[in-house]
Amino acid sequence: MAEQKPIEAIIVGGGHRSLTYAELAEIDPNALKIVGVADPDENRRKSISERFSIPSEHQFETAEELAVVPRFADVVINGTMDHIHVKTSIPLLKAGYDILLEKPFAVNEKEARELVEVANEYGRKVMVCFILRYAPFYRQIKERILAGEIGDVLNIQTSEYVSYHHMSTSHVRGKWNNSDRCHTSMLLAKCCHDLDIMVWMMGEDKPVSVSSFGSNIQFRPENAPENSGTRCLVDCPLVDTCLYSAKRIYIDHPDRWAFYVWDKLEHIENPTIEDKIELLKTSPYGVCAYKSDNNVVDHQSVLVNFKSGATGTHNMVGGSSRGLRTIHITGTKGEIFGNCEDGSFTVQKIDPAPGCEYTSEVVNTFVDGDAHGGGDIKLVKDFVDYIREDKMSVSCTSIETSLLGHLVVFLADESRENGGKVILL
Ligand SMILES: NC(=O)c1ccc[n+]([C@@H]2O[C@H](COP(=O)([O-])OP(=O)(O)OC[C@H]3O[C@@H](n4cnc5c(N)ncnc54)[C@H](O)[C@@H]3O)[C@@H](O)[C@H]2O)c1
Repeated sequence: MAEQKPIEAIIVGGGHRSLTYAELAEIDPNALKIVGVADPDENRRKSISERFSIPSEHQFETAEELAVVPRFADVVINGTMDHIHVKTSIPLLKAGYDILLEKPFAVNEKEARELVEVANEYGRKVMVCFILRYAPFYRQIKERILAGEIGDVLNIQTSEYVSYHHMSTSHVRGKWNNSDRCHTSMLLAKCCHDLDIMVWMMGEDKPVSVSSFGSNIQFRPENAPENSGTRCLVDCPLVDTCLYSAKRIYIDHPDRWAFYVWDKLEHIENPTIEDKIELLKTSPYGVCAYKSDNNVVDHQSVLVNFKSGATGTHNMVGGSSRGLRTIHITGTKGEIFGNCEDGSFTVQKIDPAPGCEYTSEVVNTFVDGDAHGGGDIKLVKDFVDYIREDKMSVSCTSIETSLLGHLVVFLADESRENGGKVILL
């Protein structure tokens, strides 16, 4: 078979997510080639240009600048932050690019619908980075449901337990801790994946109404340990004992969430522990976890009613000892349940045969140390196929199929802000 030309891509927003997807260009140069970059951060722009040998005429400071020059690649990988996904994507769609776009693809219903409309009007493909759909764990569960193994789905329960160090990094101290700044709720930032999975598993049975409760119980000044300071490495006598001590979470585990916590040290080749200690004295990651300027929930429950009368629930709980995602689906013929981190699920089917109550099969899916079950690279490969051959896999997250899960999130937050009021879709 003749070798195919790689899909040529421009990185827009050169943070750690875009670079994760761009790795495919190094793993399989026949599939993807990085030919341009747009990022206002000079350091990132320079290092991406060196890594992928990008000529100076294909280096831009912003998506907007890129959009006004004639199209010179097939696609854009948009890994900017949540609240500028739509603003940066619309001019690029109009300029002729198909887009691989990070989740959440929009931060409210109005702009989500606007992006879908523009993509349709200009006939462009937009694929949203719902990487969990590509984790073998979820994909194989979806295939079992499609094969009718547990019959018609009556109820689906998903949960996400956000570990204490992840919670500290992203939603108490870090980039998604204050919705006035990041324009994203905790549910949207963290669980748009799970609500997408729920809607995906339910297939043609669409959500019709949503209700939700949640709040921030833990990370509040009144819960700060007695005598605690305001910054762990500056004025806190509990620096060696507090569960949320920045020293214990980040200095004692310097590789944990490094791309967020140490991003201000990116310009230094090999930052030392002393550099990191100094940074934590002034950066948001060194603030007392109980005295931060966070305003997002630390737990939230969502109840979804589907057209058939089937129901779904999602529970997000932040501050668990271990990060974990679970799923339990009950159908008319049996159940499927398991957890993504261990990568195994059980298919249990009703069996009234003599001497039997049910059959049980444990399915182990491959987990290669990637928190998303190896989903990142599988997703980009699928994007390449979608662009090249217009081939949509069972996991493919076109903008239209992604919209419904986002709408459930927006309505769940509206319900939570209105005391759990039922909101119709
Ligand atoms: N799919 C997943 O599971 C997953 C996981 C984590 C994060 N994310 C999402 O990925 C996205 C990126 O996260 P990150 O941590 O890599 O972000 P980041 O902040 O590290 O990178 C964003 C980059 O965009 C650049 N930028 C800002 N304005 C720009 C503009 N107008 N044009 C071009 N570039 C611009 C910034 O300079 C920055 O380098 C976020 O939306 C986040 O929610 C997705």
